[in-house]
Amino acid sequence: MGKKRLGIGIVGGGFIARFHIRSWVGVRDADILGVVSRNRETAEEAAALARDLHVGEARSYRSVTDMIADPAIDALWICAPNFTRIEMMEEIVHALESGKGKLVGVACEKPLGRNVAEAKKMLVLTQRAQLLDGYLENQVFAPAIVRGKEIAWARGASLTGRPYLARAAEEHSGPHMPWFWEGELQGGGVLNDMMCHSVEEARFMLTPPGADRSVLTPVKVTAHTACLKWQKPHYAEILSDRSGGRTDYMNRPAEDFARSMVEYRDEKGDSLVVETTTSWSYVGAGLRLTMELLGPEYSVVVNSLDSGLKVFFSRNVKGEAGEDLVEKQNAEMGLMPVVGSEETEYGYIAENRHMVQSFLSGKRPMENFSDGVNVTELLMTAYMSAEQEKTIPFPPQRLDSFVPAVARGEWNPREQKG
Ligand SMILES: NC(=O)c1ccc[n+]([C@@H]2O[C@H](COP(=O)([O-])OP(=O)(O)OC[C@H]3O[C@@H](n4cnc5c(N)ncnc54)[C@H](O)[C@@H]3O)[C@@H](O)[C@H]2O)c1
Repeated sequence: MGKKRLGIGIVGGGFIARFHIRSWVGVRDADILGVVSRNRETAEEAAALARDLHVGEARSYRSVTDMIADPAIDALWICAPNFTRIEMMEEIVHALESGKGKLVGVACEKPLGRNVAEAKKMLVLTQRAQLLDGYLENQVFAPAIVRGKEIAWARGASLTGRPYLARAAEEHSGPHMPWFWEGELQGGGVLNDMMCHSVEEARFMLTPPGADRSVLTPVKVTAHTACLKWQKPHYAEILSDRSGGRTDYMNRPAEDFARSMVEYRDEKGDSLVVETTTSWSYVGAGLRLTMELLGPEYSVVVNSLDSGLKVFFSRNVKGEAGEDLVEKQNAEMGLMPVVGSEETEYGYIAENRHMVQSFLSGKRPMENFSDGVNVTELLMTAYMSAEQEKTIPFPPQRLDSFVPAVARGEWNPREQKG
């Protein structure tokens, strides 16, 4: 593109936008110059955070179109809620096609869409506008995952054979904003929200270093979903109170627990298995990410709460609730693990460096919207399997038009009882 530095515009000023802004202290050759959010105040706060951290002279814009019209902005990071993806991408493409401005690329947070039709539309719109595309799956950039893969393949796999089983789990006590809990707005429950991470990082671990994702062929998917905690009357009431009465888990719940098994064939036709578990019903110190990779003579294990840093606060330390020790923290007393740098350890710094370097050199990022589509296809097949209570061969028929019952407001395990 001829430029040596990229000007970045962030769409959305919430939780993940702030994570990306904080990660920018480790990103080179790009500055955060703009933020757009649903309201100007949030956008201004996020822009102020960027300025305070010296990661760019960011200012707030009224709209995505206004931000694109600024010649200083070269690429957008889409960090707005799932239900705004298509309107956002349509506005971007419209602004570019009507000559309002120019962009080299867009990077989009997970999930790429609430279903396969939306994810594919994101890809098609990006291609129509000839944009480079980055799918923001931070976990495939997490140092423990990247290094674990490197070592397992270099030592274990090269001498004794490829890994054949990857297990990934992501669990916490539930999302911070009401819209995540609404099947229709979010696209589903915890399966859509968090299994997107687990299926992709497990696939990444099982793929030989440097190989394309197409070397692994998904052949069947088996999944199970349940609402274990948040449909109990006491907890359903908490969700209702937090959302001003909108979230109704007694009648319109989403799953707070999901597991899936994806069976792949490798390039030789051998069987590989990915097992994932996700839940919004885990009350531990905070967010827990675990991964295991198993091969014939070796194994790798990662647990984000097995931190080298722990603090202890006695019962006399009665501080306010916060998330200063770990994301989705559940306590401020006793022995608590601390994640030293969440932006580093969860992969955001390496992810954003990769996206920036790819955009600057005019190359498609290694994690892109095609990966986002593939992930969505696996998740939707998992929903089909859970709904039909059987193993589904991949790819199933009518996958492109499938919308899970939970996203249509038609899933209620309580009604199936007895
Ligand atoms: N990679 C990860 O681990 C991870 C973690 C959390 C969230 N996410 C993803 O990031 C996205 C945002 O999540 P969040 O936690 O920041 O949510 P959030 O609710 O905290 O923030 C969303 C922000 O988007 C703004 N917004 C809403 N509608 C908008 C619109 N039409 N245009 C512009 N801005 C709009 C809101 O005002 C808010 O500032 C979601 O898609 C979520 O799945 C990813």
